[in-house]
Amino acid sequence: MTKDDLYQLIYISQARRPMAHDELMVIQGEAIARNSEVGVTGVLLYGGGKFMQLLEGPREVLAELFGRIALDMRHERTRLLHHGPTQTRLAPSWSMGLANADRPGAAMSIESLESCIRAYASGRSTADPATSLVHAFERMVHGFEGAQEASA
Ligand SMILES: Cc1cc2nc3c(=O)[nH]c(=O)nc-3n(C[C@H](O)[C@H](O)[C@H](O)COP(=O)(O)O)c2cc1C
Repeated sequence: MTKDDLYQLIYISQARRPMAHDELMVIQGEAIARNSEVGVTGVLLYGGGKFMQLLEGPREVLAELFGRIALDMRHERTRLLHHGPTQTRLAPSWSMGLANADRPGAAMSIESLESCIRAYASGRSTADPATSLVHAFERMVHGFEGAQEASA
């Protein structure tokens, strides 16, 4: 794979019904198993019944994967927010990182992240949406770890 092949894709979708953390971990497990075989990395955010996912990897692989994910009956109304080439992976160490905004201690709602990405898509913001998403992911994961420490 040359660097030119590397693409990023961000979508949002609506869960068909509220997801328990266990169910999210099942999705993450499936994603990790398959993504690690095909050179895909990314993060999956969940909150308020919505999913937001960053996928990064070879262009053709992402096209096939996004087609498959969009058909998954666990969610609906899949909407592509961002798709384009990139030089570097923003989540190189995550075959699929998971952050659940509904868990106690999560530092951000999915709605605030979505509005930031919409601002980018409409040209009102210069913030890179994939960078914003990974930062939100890191804040959410960090917030959750902090909550665990606080209650320990
Ligand atoms: C929100 C969400 C995110 C998902 N992310 C991935 C992913 O990153 N990689 C992946 O292989 N499957 C992912 N899946 C699972 C796929 O939709 C699909 O169930 C899985 O790849 C198995 O496909 P198959 O039954 O056609 O073999 C995701 C599913 C959901 C609902």
